[in-house]
Amino acid sequence: MHRRIEVALGDRSYAVTIGSGVRHQLAEHLARTGARRVAVVSARPAEWVPETGLPTLVLGAEDGERNKTLAAVGELCRRFATFGLGRDDVVVSCGGGTTTDTVGLAAALYHRGVAVIHLPTSLLAQVDASVGGKTAVNLAEGKNLIGAYWQPRAVLCDTDYLQTLPEREWSNGYGEIARCHFIGAGDLRELSLIDQIAGSVARKAQIVSSDERDAGARHLLNYGHTLGHAIEVATGFEVRHGEAVAIGTVFAGRLAGLLGRIDAARVAEHHDVVRAYGLPVALPAGISADRLIEIMRFDKKAAGGGENLAFVLDSTDGPALVRDVPVGAVTTALAEMPRARWAPAGHRHD
Ligand code: GLY
Repeated sequence: MHRRIEVALGDRSYAVTIGSGVRHQLAEHLARTGARRVAVVSARPAEWVPETGLPTLVLGAEDGERNKTLAAVGELCRRFATFGLGRDDVVVSCGGGTTTDTVGLAAALYHRGVAVIHLPTSLLAQVDASVGGKTAVNLAEGKNLIGAYWQPRAVLCDTDYLQTLPEREWSNGYGEIARCHFIGAGDLRELSLIDQIAGSVARKAQIVSSDERDAGARHLLNYGHTLGHAIEVATGFEVRHGEAVAIGTVFAGRLAGLLGRIDAARVAEHHDVVRAYGLPVALPAGISADRLIEIMRFDKKAAGGGENLAFVLDSTDGPALVRDVPVGAVTTALAEMPRARWAPAGHRHD
């Protein structure tokens, strides 16, 4: 059985469909748009691209942060133009989160915006990147500095795509699923994969519907990300995003406990949930707390008031963005974190 979740945004509402074989619904979705042509940008083998039922240009792409460039967006748009893609036609992305980001931005800019449908092929892209309309590319000066909010017309999360997912990619996705436990998705641990994806997407859909442009509630999606991002940077991205978010989630629990926002049992729950997904819980040995704090200070999203840092933290009333976390508390919570020589943990997936 497939799962269908609506991202409610008025006349820009769309469905995220999850399940085995759902990519084959692409032709139906395209028929509904009235498009005459379609450009599919795919970072996956040709046979992963389903039938479109329309004249189709298939362009190859490659996942990876280094390919998220304005030059790549420009090149895609040039290829769309040569193909004769019009303003009422459709762009389709097929790949991981970096492909969704780049192709989504190309769709947002081409003809000042053409419809885009995402076929996310990684767990991370299915539970997070493909849903919610954030698109962006990187500059030498920083990640995601050029982007747009551009909601897709549909997202088809085909779980068959996950069958060949490398081990580290599972961890990458499960880090985002684990943090959902603390932002209102409920306990997803014992559910089937399809329901874990659906549970994470449903929570994200609610949040995006209430705050499309990151003015408030959408900050909750950054649970575990403040320290997580610092760990990624400090290890030269040796620790992958989802792994870093997992460690950041354990830390967020400890920091909230230290600040008296949650009790010891809830702090322990952070550790237990992350562990249950087989994700890392310890800070990699050899990275100093000072270095992590320095990186967080330079992270715009982590800048709090004055000397303070900002974190999304749990409380007995639920999670919230807290902008006035004293650096001293961060230092203490970091010192209390378990430490281990870095080695990717084995995630749990059925
Ligand atoms: N990945 C966080 C967001 O979509 O807001």
